[in-house]
Amino acid sequence: MHIDIITVVPALLEGPFSHSILKRATDKGLLTVELHDLRKWAINKHGQIDDYQYGGGAGMVMMCEPLANAIDHLQTLRKYDEIIYLTPDGTTLNQKTANFLSMKENLLMICGHYKGIDQRIRDHYVTREISIGDYVLSGGELAAAVLVDSIGRLIPGVLNDETSALFDSFQDNLLAPPVYTRPADFRGWKIPDILIQGDLKKVDEWRLEQSIERTKSLRPDLLKDDE
Ligand code: ADE
Repeated sequence: MHIDIITVVPALLEGPFSHSILKRATDKGLLTVELHDLRKWAINKHGQIDDYQYGGGAGMVMMCEPLANAIDHLQTLRKYDEIIYLTPDGTTLNQKTANFLSMKENLLMICGHYKGIDQRIRDHYVTREISIGDYVLSGGELAAAVLVDSIGRLIPGVLNDETSALFDSFQDNLLAPPVYTRPADFRGWKIPDILIQGDLKKVDEWRLEQSIERTKSLRPDLLKDDE
């Protein structure tokens, strides 16, 4: 998978993809993330990419021209499955969307700043608008990092044990069951006996029960969400 990200603050995104699972994905050649500084397409030598909003009001708006030229250029290099704008008024990211996007070849992500991007770019280029939650960040970069992480780990071959993502929270609209590691008794806090009795079928049943119980008590909304 190839992910291009258009940003005015590339430095914010230089760290997240160079560690852990996403680094493994890029080292294995399964994922390439390329950052594109929007100022390369600035409208003048002052690096201008934003302007005041029509109709008045505080806050700058990211202009059409730099964004359109950046996207046009990138579209000569790749055909995008989706052009995604990270914005608090987008559809809230969930595991289903991450699964869907992890099957794609080429994604382009646009990070907004200030008041956001000119609506005409949203109307004419953007195919999907994603929010990572009902709160406002100072820019789309951290949201893009979250989105890339959630997608990148699902690309086939990225996780060592391919089945492990299958048991993540949310994969079946269920939260993950509790997990334990050694020692079996820590300060008198013992792990459930079933985990050391050697009956793997019973362990699976117990895990499913725990998942259902946890989901019922912590996130009952997930059990109703059959989308
Ligand atoms: N940009 C600012 N806030 C955001 C959010 N919550 N999700 C996605 N992009 C954003």
